[in-house]
Amino acid sequence: MTPATNPLVAFGAGKVILLGEHSVVYGYPALAGPLSFGVTARGVPARSCQLDVPATADAAQKRLMRKAFSRAARLVGEPKVKVTLEPQLPLSAGLGSSAALAVALSRVLLQAAGRAPSPKETARLAWEMEQEFHGTPSGVDHTTSAEEKLILYRRVQGPAGVVGRAREVKSPRALSVVVALAGARSPTKVTVGALRERQARWPERYRRLFAQVGRLVTEASKAVEAGDLEGLGDAMNVNQGLLGALGLSSPALEDMVYRLRGMGALGAKFTGAGGDGGAVIGLFLEPGPVVAKLTRDGVRCFASQLAGPRPHGDRS
Ligand code: MEV
Repeated sequence: MTPATNPLVAFGAGKVILLGEHSVVYGYPALAGPLSFGVTARGVPARSCQLDVPATADAAQKRLMRKAFSRAARLVGEPKVKVTLEPQLPLSAGLGSSAALAVALSRVLLQAAGRAPSPKETARLAWEMEQEFHGTPSGVDHTTSAEEKLILYRRVQGPAGVVGRAREVKSPRALSVVVALAGARSPTKVTVGALRERQARWPERYRRLFAQVGRLVTEASKAVEAGDLEGLGDAMNVNQGLLGALGLSSPALEDMVYRLRGMGALGAKFTGAGGDGGAVIGLFLEPGPVVAKLTRDGVRCFASQLAGPRPHGDRS
C-alpha cells in the first residue's frame, strides 16, 4: 500500500432521530437528520496505519475506537496514514457521536487508500465500525451521518442478509430543532437490551407498539414533505407517549420534554436511546431565543437545522 501523500480531512455529522428510535431495530422505519456538527478526522502520511484517539475520551471509549479503527483499516488494506480526531459533539450523549466518528474515519481511510468516499462506500465501512461500538445497531445513525440528509430509514431483509434502505425526505420549509441535554445518559446497549427482553417476553404487545410508531413515522415524513410542521410536531409528541409506553423514558427526560413544549415547541420528545437521561429535541420555528433562554438557565443545548431551505450562507 502506498503512503498517503497529502494531508487528508473528512467530516462525519452527528444525527438526531426525529421519530422511530428503538422500533427501527425491529424493522420499522425511522426519520432522522444530520446535525451541522460532528467529528472531523485528519490524516497525515505515516510509516504505518495509526489512530490518535481524542484526549477527552475515557479508557473504554479509547479501547473501542482503536478496535473499530483496526477493523476498518484492515478492510481497506492498512493505508500508511496517521489519523487524529476532533469531536465537536459531546461523546455518548445520544447524538450519534460514534457514527459520526465512524463516518469521518471511514472517509479518511478510503481517501488514504486512494478510493472515493461515496456515501454508500463510506456507510459500508462505517457499518463495520459501528458493530464494534454497538453490537447490533439498526444502522440508522451511520447512514444518516454518511448521507448528510433528512432520511426515512429502514432495515430490510435482502438476499445477502439484513441491509439498510434510506430515501431522502425533502422539506419545503426550514426544519429546525433545539437539542437539550437532560439527566445522566444511559448507554444505548442497556436500553436496547432491556427492551429486547421485554419484547421477547410479551412479543404481541410490543409488536403493536412498534407498529404504531412505524405508522407515525410514515405520517410524519408525509407531513415534512407537505410543509406541515404542526403535523410533524404532533407526531413527535405522540411518539414520545409511545416511547414512554415502551418503558424508555424517565423523569429527567419528561421534565425537559414538558419544558420545551412550555416554551412553544410544536413537538418535543427524547431522541436516541432514552433511559435515565440524554438528548431531548424540540421542534421550533424560531429556535434562537429558546437556546438563549435555556443557556441562561444552565441547560446544555444548541439549535440545528435538519432540512429545508437555508438563509444564504448559513451552515448551522
Ligand atoms: C440510537 O441512536 C438509536 C436506537 O434506535 C438504536 C439503533 O437504532 O441501533 C436506540
